[in-house]
Amino acid sequence: MPLNIIIGAQWGDEGKGRFTDLMAADTDAVARFSGGDNAGHTVTVGDEIFKLHLIPSGIIHEKATCVIGNGVVMNPAVFIREMDALAERGVDVGPGRLKISRACHIITPAHLALDKAKEMQLGTGKIGTTLRGIGPAYMDKIGRSGIRAGLFAHPEELAEAIHAHIETHNKTLTKIYGAEPVDATAVAADYARYAQRLAPHLTDASVLLDKSLRAGLSVLAEGAQGTFLDIDHGTYPFVTSSSPTAGGALTGLGVGPKMVGRVIGVCKAFTSRVGSGPFPCESDGETAVRLRGTGANPWDEFGTTTGRARRVGWLDLVMLRHASRINSFTDIALTKLDILSGLAEIPVCVAYKLDGEVIDYFPYSLEELGRCEPVFDVLAGWQEDVTGCRTWDDLPQAAQKYIEYIAKDAQTPISYVSVGPGRAQVVDVSAVNLLG
Ligand code: IMP
Repeated sequence: MPLNIIIGAQWGDEGKGRFTDLMAADTDAVARFSGGDNAGHTVTVGDEIFKLHLIPSGIIHEKATCVIGNGVVMNPAVFIREMDALAERGVDVGPGRLKISRACHIITPAHLALDKAKEMQLGTGKIGTTLRGIGPAYMDKIGRSGIRAGLFAHPEELAEAIHAHIETHNKTLTKIYGAEPVDATAVAADYARYAQRLAPHLTDASVLLDKSLRAGLSVLAEGAQGTFLDIDHGTYPFVTSSSPTAGGALTGLGVGPKMVGRVIGVCKAFTSRVGSGPFPCESDGETAVRLRGTGANPWDEFGTTTGRARRVGWLDLVMLRHASRINSFTDIALTKLDILSGLAEIPVCVAYKLDGEVIDYFPYSLEELGRCEPVFDVLAGWQEDVTGCRTWDDLPQAAQKYIEYIAKDAQTPISYVSVGPGRAQVVDVSAVNLLG
C-alpha cells in the first residue's frame, strides 16, 4: 500500500485535519513529518471538538498508529499535555500506537525564549511567528547542535545536553537580546520527567513505516502549515522553518519517492493567512468580515494555536497552480465551500498585474509580490445553503461551476469538497470528470 500525503496548498489552516481524519479511517498509520506545535488541527467528532497541535489527527481513530517523524520539532511538555487530554476522553495514547522518532529534535524553553526575543527585536518587521520556538529549534538542528528525542532513553546524556544547550542559549538571550536567562537546572529536571514518560514511545520511524508499507499497510503523511510557508518555496522570510511540502514528507519520515501514492492538496475555497508577509488577494472591510466570520463559531478564521484573527481574501489560483506544481498534487480537497453561499458573485484571482504587465506565476521576490495586483475573473454565486449537500447533484449549479473552474485552472482533479465542519459534511466528487 502506498504512502499518501496531505499538503496545505496555501498558507496553512486549509482544513487539512479534517481530511486526515477522513482518510485516517482507512489508514493503518498516520505520521507528522514537519513543524511542531505551531500547527493547530481542529477535528469535530459528533458534538466533541478536538484541538490538536502535535499529535496526529489520526489518533481519534482506534486503528491508526500515530507517528512523530524525524522532520518534526517536538515540545515534550505540549506532547504530554495533549496525550493526557486525549486519554481523559478515552483515547488510547499508549506506546503501542503513539510513536516518536528517535531522530526528531526537541524544543526547549530556551527555544521559546529565543523565538520571543527575536520577534521583539524585529519589532514591526517581525515574522509573526507562533512563538512556539520552532525557528530556533530548527536553527539548532541545521546548525548541528540540536537535542534529539533519542536521548529520552539516556537520562544522564540528556541532562548534560540540556545544561550545555541552555548555557549556550543563555549567552545569546542575555548578551544579544537583553532577555532573562533560562533556569537550566529546572529545565533539566522537567525534561528528565518528560523523558521517563516518553522513552517507551521512541522508535525508528523510517524502519517502522517501511515495514508497514512493505506489509501492505497504508500510511498517511499529515502535513502541517502550507506550501507558502515552506522555507524554500514560500514567501521567505515570512515562512516557517521547515518544508511542509511533499518533498518534506519524504525527508521528514525517511520514506522514498517510490512509495508515494496520492499527494492531496488541501485548499480553502478562499484564502487566509496568519502572521506577516505579502498576500496579493487580501481583502479588508466587509468582504474580510464576510469570509473570516466573527469568531462566534469554532470554524471562523481565528488561529487554532494563537487565536489571532486571520487575514483573508478571495481564492488565488496563481498560488494554487504554484502549489500543484511544487507538490505534484494528484488531487485537491476543496474546503469551506459553504462559507461562499449567499454571495451574488465570487471573484477568483487568475493572474497578477505587475508594473502594468499581466503575469501568471508567483514571483520569487517579495518586493515584486508586494507590487502585484490581483486580476480577477468573477463567477456567479449561489444562494442555496450547501451544508446538507452530500453528492455532486445536490450542489447548486453555480457551485458546481466554481469547483469545475478551479480544477480546470489548476489542471488537477478535485476529489472532495467540504461543506461544513462536521465529519459527514463532505461531498466526494472524485467520480466527476472536472477536467473534461
Ligand atoms: P513559526 O512556524 O511559529 O516560526 O511561524 C512562522 C510563520 O508561519 C508565521 O507567519 C506563522 O503565523 C505561520 N504559521 C506557522 N504554523 C502555522 C499554521 O499551522 N497555520 C498557519 N500559519 C502558521
